[in-house]
Order: sequence, then C-alpha cells, then structure tokens
Amino acid sequence: MACRERSSPRPTRRAALRLAGAAIAVSPFAAAWGQQTPPLPGPPRMPPMPPMPPPHPPGGSMPTTGPLANPEAGPRNIGVIGAGREGGALGTLLAKAGHPVMFASRHPDQLKDLVTEAGPQAKAGTVEEAIAFADAVLLVVPYPAIKDIGKDYGAALAKKALVIDVSNPSAKRDGDDLVKSVDEQGGPGKATAAMLPGCHLVRAFNAIGFAQLPQLAHRQGDPVGVPIAGDDQNAIILASRLIKEMGFEAVSVGGLAMGKYLVPGTPLAGVHTPAEIRDIVKTLKA
Ligand SMILES: NC(=O)c1ccc[n+]([C@@H]2O[C@H](COP(=O)([O-])OP(=O)(O)OC[C@H]3O[C@@H](n4cnc5c(N)ncnc54)[C@H](OP(=O)(O)O)[C@@H]3O)[C@@H](O)[C@H]2O)c1
Repeated sequence: MACRERSSPRPTRRAALRLAGAAIAVSPFAAAWGQQTPPLPGPPRMPPMPPMPPPHPPGGSMPTTGPLANPEAGPRNIGVIGAGREGGALGTLLAKAGHPVMFASRHPDQLKDLVTEAGPQAKAGTVEEAIAFADAVLLVVPYPAIKDIGKDYGAALAKKALVIDVSNPSAKRDGDDLVKSVDEQGGPGKATAAMLPGCHLVRAFNAIGFAQLPQLAHRQGDPVGVPIAGDDQNAIILASRLIKEMGFEAVSVGGLAMGKYLVPGTPLAGVHTPAEIRDIVKTLKA
C-alpha cells in the first residue's frame, strides 16, 4: 500500500497515538507485572537489577567507551525535529519503547497533547534544545527545511551518533524545481548528505504513512520491514536497533545512493515483510 502523506487530517494523529500505546501495552513485560508472588522467608528469589548506565551528557558527542558507545545497548536520548504527523507517531513509538524523547518545534508550547500522549519519557523543546539533548536525531520536516536546519545546526548534528532522515521531497508540497534539483543530486539520500555534511545519516520510514505506524508496530507474525539506506555502519546498526525496539525490522538496502528508492511511489514504498523487501531490492540499481 502506498504512503499518502497529505491525505489524512491532523486530528487522526491522536487516535493513532492511542493505538501506539495499546500496541506497546501488550508486551510480555506488561504480563509479568501483573503476577503476584506471596512473600517468602529468606533471601529474595530474583537477583537484583543491574545499575542503570549513567546519563549521557547533553550535547556530548558519541562516547568511545562505556555503555553508550555500543550502538547495540542502552537507552538513547532521541531528538525529533519536526513533531508533526509522522514525527509525532515515530517519536511516540520510541518513547513507548523506553527511550527519552524530546519533540522539537519552533513552537514547543503547542506540543502539550503530543507529549502527554507519548507518555512519561517524552518532553518538548526548541530545535536547539532537542539537538543538545539527543544522542540520535529524527529529521521529519518538509524537505526544503533541511537546508536551513543544516545551516543553523549542521555542526551540532554532525556530532550525533545517528541522524535518521524521514523527510521526502514532494512536488505537490515543495514544487517541481525542488524535486528536480534533488533528483539531479542522486536522490534524497545524497541531497540530504550534501546539506548535512559529516552527519551519520540513515534514511528510514520514508514511505510508511503516519496513520499506519501504530497498528503496524509489533504486529503478530512477520514484522513489517523498514528499508533503510546509509553509508555509516555504526549509524546503520543503531538505527536498526531503534527500529526493532519500535516494533519493526530494518532491512539495509545499501548506501545513501539507494535513498532515491525510499520515497513514496517506488516499489519499496508501503508495507512489506523483510523478505519481500530483499526480493524487491534485487530488482533495483544504485
Ligand atoms: N505524513 C506521513 O505519513 C509521512 C510519511 C513518511 C515521510 N514523511 C515525511 O516527513 C516529513 C514531515 O511530514 P508530516 O506529514 O509529518 O508533516 P507535518 O505534519 O506538516 O509536520 C512537519 C513538521 O515540521 C516542522 N518544521 C517545518 N519547518 C521546519 C523548520 N524550518 N525547522 C524545524 N521544524 C520545521 C513543523 O514544526 P513547527 O511548525 O511546529 O516548527 C511540523 O511539525 C515530510 O518530509 C514528509 O515527506 C511523512
């Protein structure tokens, strides 16, 4: 099913976020919480919980030692730049998966409902605050905004372990000239990299519509595959892990040059199993 980004009105996001909460609530941990054990004499039956890793200092670059140096372990502070329909849904899934999330807006006071629905791990701030807070950033803005974000915050974003670019050029919203210019640069993977030099960039979730995300996350049976493209191996590992915790399975389809296929209207767009994505990729050329 193809992604229809602009077809649903904003209020649907609230219903979608409620469903996201429900999807997370059926985790095996939730069942375990409900079990009551009568108190026993003697030492406790469960070993004590290991200590939590220390919080990563805001604005710091990726540590090279300690728990947060490993892209496969530990909670991550996530900044979501563009807390609209898609950014709101993705950030909510990350917050429900246990990651501290700061939703960024140029008007953070307008994000109160989103923060409430995303739960206790979520808060709102300015774009600058979210970047300072984050280990990893989701960029979910109208494509032309990336140029300004790159000018204002490119150096800070380049220090992050991961920038996931969910943004797409759209002729309808951004004009034919912008789409033509992105195509001439080799597609949105390459074009975003040019606007955000030095960033550990991965494109992901570009063609799964915001309204579907809560229902598709953690679905029974085969997970929904999320095709991702990037040139940085550590960023790909971290993105894959975050995507898994959100209830999907990342499928690396190649470098940023393959980002041209991660937009609505291409064979990879919409909902596929990981195996289907691998089959489709065999038919595509970088
Ligand atoms: N909608 C979907 O289902 C979907 C699916 C896949 C990918 N995408 C892509 O995701 C991006 C966002 O789509 P959307 O539908 O979520 O749009 P949206 O609901 O209009 O949200 C866009 C957000 O971007 C923020 N923004 C705009 N200009 C900005 C700037 N210069 N600096 C910082 N933030 C800025 C806005 O925040 P403030 O105005 O509050 O600052 C707004 O919350 C698009 O590129 C789209 O192609 C969307």
